[in-house]
Amino acid sequence: MNASKIIVSGIQPSGELHIGNYLGAIKNLIALQNEEQNSLFLFVADYHSLSGDPVTADIKRAQIEQLIIDLVSLGIDPEKTTLFIQSHVPEVTELAWILNTLTPMGELERMTQFKDKSTHQKENINVGLFDYPVLQAADILIYDTSSVPVGEDQLQHLELTRTLARKFNSRYGDMFKEPQALLSPTPRVMSLTDPIHKMSKSHGSNSYIGVFDEPSITEEKVKSAVSADNSLFEKIIYSHSEVSAEESLEIIPSEKGRQNPEIETLIAGVKNLLTLYREFAPEQFKKLLAPEPVEGQTIIDPQSLRYGEIKKNLGETINNHFAPAREARKEITLQQAQGKQQLLDQIIKNGIAARAIAQKTLQEVKTKIGLL
Ligand code: TRP
Repeated sequence: MNASKIIVSGIQPSGELHIGNYLGAIKNLIALQNEEQNSLFLFVADYHSLSGDPVTADIKRAQIEQLIIDLVSLGIDPEKTTLFIQSHVPEVTELAWILNTLTPMGELERMTQFKDKSTHQKENINVGLFDYPVLQAADILIYDTSSVPVGEDQLQHLELTRTLARKFNSRYGDMFKEPQALLSPTPRVMSLTDPIHKMSKSHGSNSYIGVFDEPSITEEKVKSAVSADNSLFEKIIYSHSEVSAEESLEIIPSEKGRQNPEIETLIAGVKNLLTLYREFAPEQFKKLLAPEPVEGQTIIDPQSLRYGEIKKNLGETINNHFAPAREARKEITLQQAQGKQQLLDQIIKNGIAARAIAQKTLQEVKTKIGLL
């Protein structure tokens, strides 16, 4: 028997990927893909994306295609990973319907993401937005998933998935495995211009760094990111644990800092810069940590920080980091333009493989329920 661990994740097609998406999810997915024992199912969540604000068919198509190209350019290998398009497995919507009948309205009303998104798209609070977590549960349960890599913001949806699995099992008989959350320590990347908020495309183009931004653009954006005068800080505490691989930064304001009405934003900005520095320029980041860490804690003297230099290094290392992906993307885009369909053919093939599993699951589900 194949003892592989099935890992499932979906990403909505919604335009450009930024470094927050990359550090928060994609980097981790690539690492998971490359572990021998894992079998990764990764799909473009096109059905889910319909619950967002509408776009034309041309844009939708372009977004779906672009996400596939971007993921492959970054290192998702469609021969190792079952990379496919969600709607190529229509069985998930059928399973979602069945799971709908097990889901209390109240559970969905409590969902933080629903409440959030409802405030962002006031004119378009559609039933799909409300039902989003149930479709996600179907995505996960239909492939007999062992684990789902999740950030904090998706934990609630995974909890619902587990609840629905248990509920189905107790009502109709043993069917679904309860998937585990795979919580990996990923940094929270904040907006460059308004670092109190998470990095997102909705806060203007200077607030985020696109993974495929041209180097000069990235350098400009990093340069104009929020940083602060050193005199506003008393000390910076960097803690890290070898065991859990967790790291954290705490910035203590000076007396002068405490009197600055913008201090929270400034602290968040510097914290964000240092977090990105640690991620993209770990060697240079370590040089800020002198003397050597004591018991997992190091004090950084804010007076030693040179933001101009840090930003310059950071811009360069981000550009170097994504240089191979930018090249790969150009190459794939060129092939597409020449009508070479290898990549899309592979995605369609993957969809067929995923669908075969889904059909089998759905058949068992229907039998358990008594559908003829
Ligand atoms: N809701 C996820 C997100 O916004 C996307 C998603 C859809 C997903 N279906 C999924 C993630 C199944 C994991 C598993 O990030």
